[in-house]
Amino acid sequence: MNAMADEGSIDLLNGRFLRGELAELEQKMLLEVFSKYVSHVDGMVNDGKEATVYRCLGHDNEYYAAKVYRDRRFRAFANESSYMDAASIGDRRLAKAIRQRTKTGRRTSQRLWIDREWQALNVLYEAGASVPEPVDKAPDAILMELVGSDGAAAPMLAQMKLDRSEAETAFKAILLDIEVLLDCELIHGDLSAYNILYQNGRPRLIDLPQVLDIHGPGDNFAPFLRDIENIATFFERQGLCPDPLEISIKLWRRYV
Ligand SMILES: Nc1ncnc2c1ncn2[C@@H]1O[C@H](COP(=O)(O)OP(=O)(O)OP(=O)(O)O)[C@@H](O)[C@H]1O
Ligand SMILES: [Mg+2]
Repeated sequence: MNAMADEGSIDLLNGRFLRGELAELEQKMLLEVFSKYVSHVDGMVNDGKEATVYRCLGHDNEYYAAKVYRDRRFRAFANESSYMDAASIGDRRLAKAIRQRTKTGRRTSQRLWIDREWQALNVLYEAGASVPEPVDKAPDAILMELVGSDGAAAPMLAQMKLDRSEAETAFKAILLDIEVLLDCELIHGDLSAYNILYQNGRPRLIDLPQVLDIHGPGDNFAPFLRDIENIATFFERQGLCPDPLEISIKLWRRYV
């Protein structure tokens, strides 16, 4: 079985691998592609629908998070075709392959998602947003700061029950981050309490492959409003009364 194909990436999920075998292959791949930073892969943080996140121990004894994307999982992205068009890809044959989801197309599409998340992480981290610090990128994976403490990943905001003052502080911090994104001309595009980690009172935004440009293509106010509505829904449950439409309009007018 030739697991290490093509620049250290794994051509996986053709139905021949069991989950455990797959995890083993992915961990081997991570050790290889991130050998400059990682000395040991120390289990899974999360096995999600679009990516698996592994906890890695660095040569510096710090913990890192490695997010591994997989071919099969990209079928879950709903808005893929909205901006992965021929123009943005610059290759009509590839664009067609992506639309038709051929093997080459799926792999290219996967890499565009990884590139997109990597770029967004870098731009936003540099701009001061509370995203994990990006460390390194491989064809199928991103290495970044493990958000948490003492090697334990922080919980998702969605799992938290906050008191009023914690909720107010967290909500303000998230709105400031949303302003940093807007200032970078970006919308998260999948923001919710599930894509925010709560690290000792500090919200940290994660999961950025679907970031959108505030200037389109198309009118991106609707996805922006949806992001704000998702956040507002969580904070309503914590006793706040945010008005997502008012907040969205105010921010949109200020930045777009
Ligand atoms: N840098 C990080 N530090 C700590 N935990 C992380 C980090 N990045 C991701 N995680 C964990 O992995 C989970 C999945 O990551 P992410 O949301 O980026 O991927 P996903 O493709 O949306 O997966 P899912 O389908 O589970 O939402 C997160 O909910 C979080 O628990
Ligand atoms: Mg997620």
